[in-house]
Amino acid sequence: MRQRVGIESLAVAVPHRYLDLEDLARARGVDPAKYTQGLGAKQMAVAEPGEDAAALAATAAKRLIENNSLDPANLGMLVVGTETGVDHSKAVASYVQGMLKLPRGMRTFDVQHACYGGTAGLMAAAEWIASGAAAGRSAIVIASDIARYELNSPGEPTQGGGAVALLVSAEPDLLELDFGMNGVFSMDVHDFWRPLGRREAVVDGHYSIACYLEALSGAYRGWRERAIAREMIRPKDLPSEQLARVVYHVPFCKMAKKAHAQVRRCDIEDTRGVTWNEALDAQEAPAMTASFEKQVASTLGLCAQVGNAYTASLYLGIAGLLEKEAAALEGERIGLFSYGSGCCGEFFSGVVGKKAAQKMAAAKLGNVLAQRERIRFDEYERVLKLPPGEPLQGIHAAPGTFRYCGSQDFRRVYAAG
Ligand code: HMG
Repeated sequence: MRQRVGIESLAVAVPHRYLDLEDLARARGVDPAKYTQGLGAKQMAVAEPGEDAAALAATAAKRLIENNSLDPANLGMLVVGTETGVDHSKAVASYVQGMLKLPRGMRTFDVQHACYGGTAGLMAAAEWIASGAAAGRSAIVIASDIARYELNSPGEPTQGGGAVALLVSAEPDLLELDFGMNGVFSMDVHDFWRPLGRREAVVDGHYSIACYLEALSGAYRGWRERAIAREMIRPKDLPSEQLARVVYHVPFCKMAKKAHAQVRRCDIEDTRGVTWNEALDAQEAPAMTASFEKQVASTLGLCAQVGNAYTASLYLGIAGLLEKEAAALEGERIGLFSYGSGCCGEFFSGVVGKKAAQKMAAAKLGNVLAQRERIRFDEYERVLKLPPGEPLQGIHAAPGTFRYCGSQDFRRVYAAG
């Protein structure tokens, strides 16, 4: 029998402050509808310097361990997917291990590939377990990032940040992965990148959307071929419609709409042997909208409140979906698409576990969001203009969280609340 593997439970940490995108639009002299409807965004998390990727990762992992009464002695791997790490050499995973005082007999490492790093880490952990090398142990995989663009740039309304910690094990109570069905697509492109020494990303925005959609088409077709070969999907009806929900990497919520339309276009072209054209576009528009509402809309709740969280974005989508619909989706197959600029895309799927609702109740997502505070535009600008590495005064961590509070002799110091 095939080894069961997947996500047993999850926990989320987000910066404690956020900016409403209507406030940002007004301050920038932009029609708020461009952000709220054109990009589908409502709010974006604003991380303070103390809330770096390591502090958020440790906070999420602490919640995962405490909410699920995990025995750290049973962990054999700690992986952090991040593109906003805090050191050129030392892994965020090492900082997390230290902050949480985790046992030393475990593999710790970071994975970097833009927003794809979390998924690369998840697959490394899942394959470690499925291979038998884990010998009954579990892994924690954390996706943690702060998304930053230049002030006043087109990317500005697509910032955000957050961390999602996943317990990956042979008891996938939340989501059992369909092992060996993943479709992948990668190519060398400059759609979005962050040269060494820069805090803000450089991005060719419209090209990055085209790259995302190209990677999605390739990865989705790869997954579909394997899913049909394994008879998990019927080839005749539209294959994507057989997924109860599809969760996409969400740099801004409207991207999920573009992505879902692309997946349906792939299905229609390939199953009907037609080439996409304007007439088809008009004819299919009502069905596109209906399928988006049914399969995707409920995955966007958390992403619309947090903004882009790079590696964590897909996993915030899963958390938001299961927070709302875990009970209704138990036993159902969902599709997942991870995209990292540069680029690599992976389409995979999993079946929602029988204990998903119970596991989501333990994650207490409502509390995580309820503790947030809305800030004004001028405070947002002040925080983003703070120079990097400035000594931090009077930083303290709220109960249950970690904060970066400055460096001594180049050693980063974190406070625990
Ligand atoms: P822009 O060029 O300022 O916006 O930046 P636009 O002119 O393209 O308008 C956006 C949408 O708003 C359009 O809708 C407009 O029609 C609409 P669409 O045609 O796309 O459906 N619009 C309005 N709607 C209502 N009322 C109005 C109005 N005005 C316009 N008044 C862009 C948009 C996304 C390019 C920019 O925000 C950006 O560069 N963002 C960062 C890059 C990005 O998020 N790329 C996504 C794909 S790459 C990716 O996902 C990887 C990433 O996460 C990084 C990683 O992997 O690490 C980014």
